[in-house]
Amino acid sequence: MNVKLSDGRLIPVEMHKVRIVQQTNLVPITRRVKAIDEAGYNTFLLPTRDVFLDMLTESGTNAMSDNQLAAMMVSDDAYAGSQSFYKLADAVKEILGFAHTMPVHQGRAAEHLLAKVFVKPGDVVLMNYHFTTTKAHFELAGATVLEIYTDEAMNTQSTDPFRGNLDLRKFADAIKKYGRDKIPFIRMEATTNLIGGQPFSLRNLLEVKKMAAAHNIPLVFDGSLISENAYFIKMREQGYADKSIREIIKEMMSVVDIFYLSARKSTSVRGGMIATNNKEYYDRLLDWLPVYEGFSTYGGMSTKEIEAMAVGLREMTDVNVAGISPEFIQYFVGRLLENGLPAVSPPGGLACHLDAKRFLPHLPQSVYPAGALAAAIYIASGVRSMERGTISMDRDAKGNEVYADLELARLAVPRRVYTLSQIEYTVDRLIWLYKHRNLVKGLKFVQEPKVLRFFFGRLQALDNWGADLAKAFEADFGPNF
Ligand SMILES: Cc1ncc(COP(=O)(O)O)c(C=O)c1O
Repeated sequence: MNVKLSDGRLIPVEMHKVRIVQQTNLVPITRRVKAIDEAGYNTFLLPTRDVFLDMLTESGTNAMSDNQLAAMMVSDDAYAGSQSFYKLADAVKEILGFAHTMPVHQGRAAEHLLAKVFVKPGDVVLMNYHFTTTKAHFELAGATVLEIYTDEAMNTQSTDPFRGNLDLRKFADAIKKYGRDKIPFIRMEATTNLIGGQPFSLRNLLEVKKMAAAHNIPLVFDGSLISENAYFIKMREQGYADKSIREIIKEMMSVVDIFYLSARKSTSVRGGMIATNNKEYYDRLLDWLPVYEGFSTYGGMSTKEIEAMAVGLREMTDVNVAGISPEFIQYFVGRLLENGLPAVSPPGGLACHLDAKRFLPHLPQSVYPAGALAAAIYIASGVRSMERGTISMDRDAKGNEVYADLELARLAVPRRVYTLSQIEYTVDRLIWLYKHRNLVKGLKFVQEPKVLRFFFGRLQALDNWGADLAKAFEADFGPNF
């Protein structure tokens, strides 16, 4: 909950108590520069023993609640017919309003099944923006992914509160150009991950549905970050300030044909799900569920996580749960902006994003500015962030580089995990890095996987800039930090 202090400052105050903690460790600068080198300048390949604050992602790393942990203790471990599944199905019916629930092992498993059942070669899958695994699955099924975002979506200094909106004019043009039969569905992603956690408005969603329904195109909703999107609608959209998160979610869901999510985010567990009221869609998906995931009452998930997910679905509708990460991110971004750093605005829902094109304007996209920035952040702070730029794009069929629309370094703020002093520490080190940004040169691949290369790719620092940055850091802070 944002609270106004007597000096006028707004700070996010945690509406929870921390009862279980995990020790973390800040390894000194000499180790950090060695560790990033051993990790091929790819923050995914750092072991957590070398990481002080892990802001790689909030996926599966949010703090669970006492009630979620308690629910895990009473899970019903059965291959078929587990009571844990029926608790999840009840929660889905109550919160989302869907009659049919299908657990899957995580979000990309839902995308795999959707691709298998609904997408055929030559199709064009329309969406407000892609996510890496989404694009990979639909392209592997032979389709093209077409993003129809608004002109404002790529403006990292925007004041538009809903940069995740879909452009309706582009939607109409795409239907005319490709024809209904080539469009298996339209996908709306809540709190769009790769645009910097930006939400869409409810009004936009309702208009998308209207146009989709007029052409009999199903609306698929990626709700991995649904509660954050609902929180932004409450805070930013006219007419919703007095509505509860639960009411806003219900209104969103009233227009959705197929819902899926990565449960690792809004519901703070590890798993995924597809839900629908359309029995025919459910049956078609169900045919493939046992082949790839497992029986219909566990779908590759542990029953413990299914229990916790049922609790998490209800808890995410508490405004203090839905709002805690957006409020921390707002504070984090605000502190960076007031110090002149190029943080993406308006603040989004899963992370503080730095615009690497503006942070490192001397680096062309061919040397991966976002990847270089993520590595430099680690060297300067021990904080692990993630590249969300050209490294996160794979090459095209001819082997050409596909430059990302945005070059972002993402500092995720997992729900209820880090404190304000840890955010302040990170802000301080980012300010230091910005002052020394000219020391950061680019990266080049030395080992490059063909698909989703950002996970396992290994790179090298051009001109060994990591060592120069570490030297400058040690000169200012000494060897122990
Ligand atoms: C919007 C969105 N969709 C899908 C996925 C894939 O989910 P998972 O990582 O659980 O496979 C993610 C993961 O970050 C995501 O952010």
